[in-house]
Amino acid sequence: MTPGILEGKACLITGGASGIGRAAVLAFAAAGANVLTADIQNCSSPELPFFAMDVRRPEQIRAAVAKAVALYGRLDCAVNCAGIGGVRACTAEYPDEVWDQVLAVNLTGVFHCMKEELAVMLPQGSGAIVNVASVAGVTGFARHSAYSASKHGVVGITKVAALEYARNGIRVNAVCPGFTRTPMVEEMLQERPGLEQRLEARMPVGRFGTPEEIASSILYLCSDAASFITGHAMLLDGGLTAG
Ligand SMILES: NC(=O)c1ccc[n+]([C@@H]2O[C@H](COP(=O)([O-])OP(=O)(O)OC[C@H]3O[C@@H](n4cnc5c(N)ncnc54)[C@H](O)[C@@H]3O)[C@@H](O)[C@H]2O)c1
Repeated sequence: MTPGILEGKACLITGGASGIGRAAVLAFAAAGANVLTADIQNCSSPELPFFAMDVRRPEQIRAAVAKAVALYGRLDCAVNCAGIGGVRACTAEYPDEVWDQVLAVNLTGVFHCMKEELAVMLPQGSGAIVNVASVAGVTGFARHSAYSASKHGVVGITKVAALEYARNGIRVNAVCPGFTRTPMVEEMLQERPGLEQRLEARMPVGRFGTPEEIASSILYLCSDAASFITGHAMLLDGGLTAG
């Protein structure tokens, strides 16, 4: 990616303490952006400002966006990456309380983040939002009804907001990663011996993605290099859904 492609851009990244979000924070900073990391999990560092927040709490999202504006004077880019996986269970047995938690973080959380981010971007007349969905947002993912529903929902609200704000200088896109080596996935692999090999065998490229590979596409979609792209759900899955 071109160095300095986000030079001086004010960015907020939720879920920026770990995995894909962390890789995005580092990639954005390396591209010259001023980044505020927002997460429920602490990851303070002297170089990269951090704001503790829970995307299930709209007032905490509002405070995170206000903090980014206080630090940088505006909000050019927002990456809504905070997410959880839920449990593995068929739909008939899927626990109600887990359904509620997954939807609250993955879908309602993104909805509230977008509301607060748009409230700053609209008067500016510019902005780029990237929501982190999943391949499970465009195909079924057996035994993960809550996760799949939440990610289909993220793709849906991404397209709706893209249509609504295209004439306001605001672009809204989603990325749909396939299996990517992050703490979320490592935990799943450790719980189920042999799964890693089975998944790799299913993947056309024969391997998992890296958080850095996902981050570079998020960065591209936030940058002016993607100025004609809005309402797009970009598959980043090593060919998984091509067949
Ligand atoms: N890893 C994959 O294979 C994969 C594939 C497709 C999509 N995704 C999506 O990518 C995103 C990042 O996942 P990851 O794999 O990097 O996982 P991760 O667990 O490493 O990172 C998720 C981050 O979200 C934060 N978070 C969780 N709940 C939160 C809350 N209520 N408020 C604020 N922050 C919260 C966590 O603290 C963590 O830092 C998620 O939305 C996930 O669904 C991941």
